[in-house]
Amino acid sequence: MNAAPLPPLEEIDPALSEEINSYLEEWKDKEGNLIMMLHEIQDRHGFVPREASLLLAEATGVPMARIYEVLTFYNYFKLVPPGKHNVMVCNGTACYLKGAGRLLAELESRLGISDGDTTDDRLIHLETVRCIGCCGMAPAMVVDHKTLGKLNPTDMAGLIEGIRKREESGNDQ
Ligand code: FES
Repeated sequence: MNAAPLPPLEEIDPALSEEINSYLEEWKDKEGNLIMMLHEIQDRHGFVPREASLLLAEATGVPMARIYEVLTFYNYFKLVPPGKHNVMVCNGTACYLKGAGRLLAELESRLGISDGDTTDDRLIHLETVRCIGCCGMAPAMVVDHKTLGKLNPTDMAGLIEGIRKREESGNDQ
């Protein structure tokens, strides 16, 4: 996660302030409003920018720590911008037992990122997920909505190369 200090409130993009104000307007008196506003932010940006959390904390009086508790409790919320291609390694029991950890380690090493991170060029996001319902194919992964199974660490280089080649050729799916 980006650990840069948060900017002062007055330096935050006014468009983001306006956006947050519109959510406050819509949700201020409704039950569960914090989480609904976080959903709105994520739907709009693909993740919840730290500046948005800061604005929300200021406007609602909910401490940043509480907002981060909510954001990190739900798997759904992302704290960093998504990558263009999503690589999900299943780490459910069957996949774990069949070597999901080795797939993950190989991907982390080749991409130079950790579980939950996105490459600097924002091309590939790597994450682990719980059982995806294809235990017979363990160890399994989902790459851009396509399920792959019975994988070996030696398959990871080709998988990454395939994504990069499709990207270069303009066929990015
Ligand atoms: S544990 Fe991986 S698909 Fe079920």
